[in-house]
Amino acid sequence: MEFKEKFLQKYSSLTDIDLFIEFSLKDLCKSIRVNTLKISVKELKKRMNCYEFRQVPWCKEGFFVKGERTDLGNLREHQLGFYYIQESASMIPPIVLNPKVGDIVLDACASPGSKTTQMAAMMHNEGIIVANDIKDDRIRALSTNLQRCGVSNVVLTKSWAESITMKFDKILLDAPCSGTGTIRKSLKTIKIWNPNMYKKLAGAQKGLISHCFDILRENGTMVYSTCSISPEENEEVVNFLLQKYENARLEEISLNIKRSNPVLESKGEILSKDIKKCLRIWPQDNDTSGFFVAKIRKD
Ligand SMILES: C[S@@+](CC[C@H](N)C(=O)[O-])C[C@H]1O[C@@H](n2cnc3c(N)ncnc32)[C@H](O)[C@@H]1O
Repeated sequence: MEFKEKFLQKYSSLTDIDLFIEFSLKDLCKSIRVNTLKISVKELKKRMNCYEFRQVPWCKEGFFVKGERTDLGNLREHQLGFYYIQESASMIPPIVLNPKVGDIVLDACASPGSKTTQMAAMMHNEGIIVANDIKDDRIRALSTNLQRCGVSNVVLTKSWAESITMKFDKILLDAPCSGTGTIRKSLKTIKIWNPNMYKKLAGAQKGLISHCFDILRENGTMVYSTCSISPEENEEVVNFLLQKYENARLEEISLNIKRSNPVLESKGEILSKDIKKCLRIWPQDNDTSGFFVAKIRKD
């Protein structure tokens, strides 16, 4: 697999590019999150005792799983909704948002629902989650996953997130992105990569983050996340929000995870020093996908 020259040039200044390539081409360890709405961790481990479970350090219901069968999506326990096949780094945003029983939460770009189902479990199926997405086929997958997982505190909506007017205590904006952190899941990402692909995406992400901040209640919390490694889709988007709103404030993210320094200068522009509170992880940091998470508070 050949990485494009411009891609290598761009990222060599941000990380150890040889290590990045090595990990981006390595198989990703399969991981699941136990759906505690239906079964306890102990009970699932007992049922799947021919599998080796290795704890995901930052998520107590998350496990790297190894066993004879790799088609985890075809097992009876999966069909019964006892677990969700979820990349370990993708378990981070709900943990950072920390929705509680009784919160009114928006999952602005929710399909296919890995994080909606995780939040529903964290909320013990109480409170309300509005799970929204714009694409029909993805809404269908989301609906199936909610039913399979026994989720009952979710209202499903199909709309542009930018048109939602209701106010929320907590918002998860797991934004549409280039997916450059997930090369290990699909090599297609690197084939279609081009140096200009961020422009349109970053414009959409800035629109989404601004609107979601507008509909966040005072003293509310919003988590912005992507599975992209590009500063244009991450640090620059968060920096844009901080510049636009005086009452937007970044909060520290404390998690048991190896992290890299966020990018504090992009294309010659010095970004807010608070950006260092964001969580940037490269695939080689924890042997996962690459991910970016920002925790934002509205004063
Ligand atoms: C990164 S995926 C979300 C993954 C999901 N949060 C999960 O963990 O399973 C981004 C989603 O945003 C949806 N989307 C893109 N633009 C949108 C918009 N303006 N409003 C609502 N949904 C949008 C896409 O259809 C896609 O399903």
